[in-house]
Amino acid sequence: MNWSERCEPALKRFMSGENELILGIESSCDETAAAVLSGGRKVLSMAVHTQIPVHRLYGGVVPEIASRSHTERIGAVVDEALKSAGVGLNDIGAIAVTCTPGLIGALLVGVSYAKGLAYAANIPLVGVNHIAGHIAANYLTYPDLEPPFVCLVASGGHSHIVRVVDYNRFELIGRTRDDAAGEAFDKAARALGLLYPGGPEIEKLAKCGNPNAFRFHAPFNEGESNDFSFSGIKTAVVNLLHNAEQKGEVLNKADVAASFQRAVADTLTMKSVRAALREKSSVLALAGGVSANSVLRTRLQTECDRNGIRFCRPDMRFCTDNAAMIACQGYYMLRSGEVSGLDLNPSAAEFLSEGR
Ligand code: KG4
Ligand code: ZN
Repeated sequence: MNWSERCEPALKRFMSGENELILGIESSCDETAAAVLSGGRKVLSMAVHTQIPVHRLYGGVVPEIASRSHTERIGAVVDEALKSAGVGLNDIGAIAVTCTPGLIGALLVGVSYAKGLAYAANIPLVGVNHIAGHIAANYLTYPDLEPPFVCLVASGGHSHIVRVVDYNRFELIGRTRDDAAGEAFDKAARALGLLYPGGPEIEKLAKCGNPNAFRFHAPFNEGESNDFSFSGIKTAVVNLLHNAEQKGEVLNKADVAASFQRAVADTLTMKSVRAALREKSSVLALAGGVSANSVLRTRLQTECDRNGIRFCRPDMRFCTDNAAMIACQGYYMLRSGEVSGLDLNPSAAEFLSEGR
């Protein structure tokens, strides 16, 4: 009997609801994470080991260091998730693992580990798109939320407006033309002399700054397109700081941070609310690491309220990379009959497909 035949009883138990315990594994960037869910939406445990303190020394993620750290930690992180859920590997009904997009060496660690566990335990495996996982973080937060809806995905590597047609069907209706929103936060933070990752640092500094002190705008964002651009806003910050330094002027960095944050939040809000209205969507969801930003959350809530749209955003613990969102998305994939084989390969740059 080969592995996929040996998995059949477990797959049947999963599909019938007899054993819906799913283990999620995430290792696409700088967080090694595992989680156990019961069904698609009940989180029994979450374990995360963040590598941020190490990458901080270099001002950003160093891929080789990330892969090595995932290799060192993944066993302990998975054990911790199983232990705090009060289960063993033999109790798990299926495994979901991030297989794209991300750092290839980092993805490889999670995918290989997940394959090993699935093979040993004779349980089905499913490879999950990380961006789809971020979107699924909203299902964990709102038990009643179902597709279709429009979702703004703003993470470190991607900024998209996505039509979520069904749990496993996505259509891109807007995207960044250059930097992702999180990337712009990280680069602006670096120019301001702040630590990596820049988003939370800018948010902290901006709290005592004036968001109207400077006007950073990118003309492209004022057009009718659903696409956005953040490189211009980031460059405006860099130039402002550079010119001031050359002239020996001292700028109020909190004002710069607050004005930058406002420009990004305004652009994301305006474009995504307009896209939701155009799509006649009654729901606008937010996803990705930048969804942790309180100014963006508040702006979107206000604009959605004004336009009669329900605004959804993940609980804070599901905003940045975690494995509960991967397990949740994996659950819906398995439910619709998507199962991966042991030939599952990670891929560094695969976006949500147009269509399926
Ligand atoms: O989704 P994520 O954890 O990893 C990727 O899939 O890329 O997103 C990380 C990004 C980083 O660029 C980080 O600066 C940004 O999310 N981020 C934030 C905040 N927290 C994290 N950006 C703005 N405000 C925050 N509070
Ligand atoms: Zn992410």
